[in-house]
Amino acid sequence: MDRAVESVDRGIDRERVQELYLSTLGFSGWQLGNASAIAAEEFGHPGMPAVRVENACASGGFALRMAVDAVASGRRDLVLVVGLEKMTDVSQARRRYWLGVSGDTEWERLAGLTFAGVYGLMAARYAAEYGPVRDALSEVAVKNHANGALNPNAHFQKPISRDQASAAPAVAAPLGLYDCCPVSDGAAALLVAAPETARQYTDTPVYVVGSGAGSDALAIQSRASLTRLDASRRAAEEAFRRAPFERKDLDFLEVHDCFTIAELLALEDLGVARRGSAARLTLSGATRIGGRMPVNPDGGLKAKGHPIGATGVSQAYEVFLQLRGGAGSRQVRGAERALTHNVGGSGASAAVHLFSTEGA
Ligand code: COA
Repeated sequence: MDRAVESVDRGIDRERVQELYLSTLGFSGWQLGNASAIAAEEFGHPGMPAVRVENACASGGFALRMAVDAVASGRRDLVLVVGLEKMTDVSQARRRYWLGVSGDTEWERLAGLTFAGVYGLMAARYAAEYGPVRDALSEVAVKNHANGALNPNAHFQKPISRDQASAAPAVAAPLGLYDCCPVSDGAAALLVAAPETARQYTDTPVYVVGSGAGSDALAIQSRASLTRLDASRRAAEEAFRRAPFERKDLDFLEVHDCFTIAELLALEDLGVARRGSAARLTLSGATRIGGRMPVNPDGGLKAKGHPIGATGVSQAYEVFLQLRGGAGSRQVRGAERALTHNVGGSGASAAVHLFSTEGA
């Protein structure tokens, strides 16, 4: 929260912020009532309205969407979005339960199916429908670890090789250790303002020019397909419906790569790759920084980490850095338009946002 305030170019009075949206799944695996009021107090403005937003791993994207709606409706002109999660000081059993309740309980969690297991099924099905996928999954891991090595805030800041990724111990076949996001602690914060308010504080605001969301059946056996997430598809369709640019105009994407297969599915669900072509696109190098369509320049969930409630907020923070030319050695040259994509659980909810250096 302090860094969000410090990054305002011309300074800001904390009492000027009118509302707070706190995104978090829980606190070390437990629920804490009224957590948003604590966040407002910590921020130094205990009187403002504050609410907690929870949509599993997509909590951050939905908190951003609520903030954008509050501003777009004219109800507020300056709001704070905070995402946080503290995951590492929890027992393995507690963590399995805590993450597992964001999936189906009767058919998945109680049967022993973890999120790695669900995405493992998706990867196996994708390979059955479109051909071998191991090299592309490893390329996602190698690329995102390489990007994470350029991000001082990343959980993992060490590059890995394609061989290391492919030969890693299995977690949920065909997914191995380097196909999984880690269990991370982290926090991120954003100030969302009406354009005229933002311009009082900076000459280089980043504009939110599209917002979309969708949902789907919680249990995977109730979904239409295992090789696409319809919640993501619906969210992207809504975000692009009135957007001032098209998919081909995007300079980079921040997508929800909780497992490497999820990055391939995202490229297809968001409509930037044809069905079945994301593996080839990835292996061509197009999604690397410097490629035609960089994906996850901050290291993604794979290397930056996945502190559940913080993830969707931190994706927008990366866009803020990149679109202002402040991403240092991982800067996507000339970045002016970007997309964030945040998924809840194995695809029961998704939020997509579009950003630009120019207002709509
Ligand atoms: N990627 C790369 N390295 C990882 C890693 C990951 N995802 N997870 C752990 N490691 C490394 C650790 O840094 C450690 O390395 P070190 O020995 O050099 O210090 C080593 O592997 C063992 O770490 P540990 O924490 O004991 O691993 P683990 O076996 O308990 O957990 C996973 C590994 C993959 C099971 C765990 O990271 C996981 O559950 N990830 C998925 C989380 C999830 O489902 N989130 C919700 C998504 S929808």
